[in-house]
Amino acid sequence: MTHAVIGWGRLARALVPALREAGETVVIGRRLPGEGGLTHAEAARQADWVWLTVPDDHIAATAAALPWRPGQLALHCSGATPLSALAPAPAVAGFHPLKLLAGDAGLAGAHVGIEAGDAHRPALEALALALGLVPLRLPTPMDAPARAAYHAAANLAASGVLAVLAEAQSLWAAAGLAGADALPALAPLTRGALDTALARGLTGAVSGPVARGDAGVLARHRQALAAAGLPEDLLLALAQRQLALAQAGGRLSETQVTALRAHLGKA
Ligand SMILES: NC(=O)c1ccc[n+]([C@@H]2O[C@H](COP(=O)([O-])OP(=O)(O)OC[C@H]3O[C@@H](n4cnc5c(N)ncnc54)[C@H](OP(=O)(O)O)[C@@H]3O)[C@@H](O)[C@H]2O)c1
Repeated sequence: MTHAVIGWGRLARALVPALREAGETVVIGRRLPGEGGLTHAEAARQADWVWLTVPDDHIAATAAALPWRPGQLALHCSGATPLSALAPAPAVAGFHPLKLLAGDAGLAGAHVGIEAGDAHRPALEALALALGLVPLRLPTPMDAPARAAYHAAANLAASGVLAVLAEAQSLWAAAGLAGADALPALAPLTRGALDTALARGLTGAVSGPVARGDAGVLARHRQALAAAGLPEDLLLALAQRQLALAQAGGRLSETQVTALRAHLGKA
């Protein structure tokens, strides 16, 4: 079987070597192919499976411009885009790696959301395993609210964490500490929290002043934000969620919960 990968971006640069290592034949189609390269149409004509690894907003237009023939399968790797974007193709599927790809990051180890009918799901699940991915069966077709919730979950788990770290970096600077040390010092805390959560679940992993019922420490955190001229909305929203986790884990007495709620309610 031959694969055409349309668009040479971050996802393609991880997918193509993985496909080739798994023994698959791959051709690449580019908008501006260099010497000896292939256009989108030239690559697609050679392929059984055509992967549209272009920006989400350009999947539909790119699919519409390809010369489809019976028997081909069109795939995209977007968690946010409905399969209808691939509509001109004779068959369609989604293969969405749950991984933030940048630099040399490979695909292996990630889960991959697979949205496909019975005709293609088994082959896609087998390919996922061959690429070192963990196949995750998505409802097919996935309705718009479910897709939005699924994609929001993935985004929160990746870039949402980066936004939290950016806030932590600002507080680090407010403490007068060297900015260059912030991420190397803070990121291992994030990794440790994740490792603990994977081992014990979120409710078993949550720690810090909220999980301990230390309302006084939380108050001083809020004062630090005010002194630094930083908004407290993120800290308070996260404290509310940590309180819910600590409560669900049976970590706090009713008195502590009431005290923390009263404190957070003053926001
Ligand atoms: N990056 C990730 O972490 C990640 C993770 C999971 C899923 N995905 C999904 O993978 C797909 C590709 O994302 P990506 O991050 O690889 O994007 P990207 O790095 O921006 O690359 C997309 C490629 O598409 C081509 N392209 C750019 N503008 C285009 C246009 N207007 N029309 C047609 N082609 C265009 C370019 O390749 P040429 O110059 O070769 O034409 C570009 O390198 C998206 O659906 C995304 O949601 C990405």
